Amino acid sequence: MHDHEATHTIAGHPTARPRRLRRGATLRRMVRETRLSPDQLILPLFAVPGAGVEVPIPSLAGQARLSPDLVAARASRAYAAGVPAVLLFGVSDEKDALASVSHDPDGAVQRAVAAVKDAVPDMVVITDVCLCAYTDHGHCGLVVDGEVDNDASLEVLARAALSHAEAGADVVAPSDMMDGRVGAIRRLLDAEGFQGTAILSYAAKYASAFYGPFRDAAGSAPGYGDRKGYQMDPANGREALREVRLDVGEGADMVMVKPAATYLDVIARVRDITDLPVAAYHVSGEYSMLKAAAERGWLDERTATMETLTAIVRAGSDLVITYAAEDAANWLQELA
Ligand code: PBG
Repeated sequence: MHDHEATHTIAGHPTARPRRLRRGATLRRMVRETRLSPDQLILPLFAVPGAGVEVPIPSLAGQARLSPDLVAARASRAYAAGVPAVLLFGVSDEKDALASVSHDPDGAVQRAVAAVKDAVPDMVVITDVCLCAYTDHGHCGLVVDGEVDNDASLEVLARAALSHAEAGADVVAPSDMMDGRVGAIRRLLDAEGFQGTAILSYAAKYASAFYGPFRDAAGSAPGYGDRKGYQMDPANGREALREVRLDVGEGADMVMVKPAATYLDVIARVRDITDLPVAAYHVSGEYSMLKAAAERGWLDERTATMETLTAIVRAGSDLVITYAAEDAANWLQELA
């Protein structure tokens, strides 16, 4: 504790009056503790094959599956609004047992990476590394004898990450939750001359109901079973710290907590145990809840969204991945 708080009253008047510092917008602005900046925002985008393709995602208002050319156009617009980075997901109809398209150099995400780097060279391009959009069963790893096989999946994940780096990705972000994948990806990237490609690890990723709209967008819902065998139990906080320590040990450059708004305690605890940048993913369901309530007039979209993003940063996150990144950047510019 720094201050002694006088709590007594003098002649019926309180001596401590926090409200004094809430008088007027200018004073409130001066004593504000958390400052959200567009620099902290990362916009997720979904890449599909083709050209000129834009397919809106009904459960994710304002978002669409885009072909690489339109991913680049959307990224340029976001960059112009002040958003420094995109997180790219590949969506594919070509699925098989080995997730072959995950590391196809001509895949939609690989092409989208190149298109964004070409259109906006200064924009940071992050790619999601996972197999769920490419396996015929929709699990995040390869299935061997009816089970998601950890070690068999590592090689394919590393190849997918390498294909993203080869396409020009600045950062690869493994979201599969296999054990040891950060190390496997780091080793292959280094061996192939991509020492400069950073890893943002989805370190504490929970088996959450809030990914529903994303799975519509990516066509990646598991065909059978669920992801509880690899994603974390929402009841566990300490385990998140263990996951973070392991990923840091394997060479992660940044770590992520996902989802965000329902895991603010986890963000705060992760912030306490690492000096690496911490990111949090305000996921599809969290975004769609705000959108749906705003559409019905039950919430004010702008203030509710900014309050949520500010809370995520207040909890200790340096970076926020959000479908509202471009809107938030525009709102922040209007305020400045
Ligand atoms: C892929 C992946 C998912 C999300 C990010 N990467 C879905 C899942 O794990 O099922 C969710 C993102 C969101 O809901 O916005 N594994």
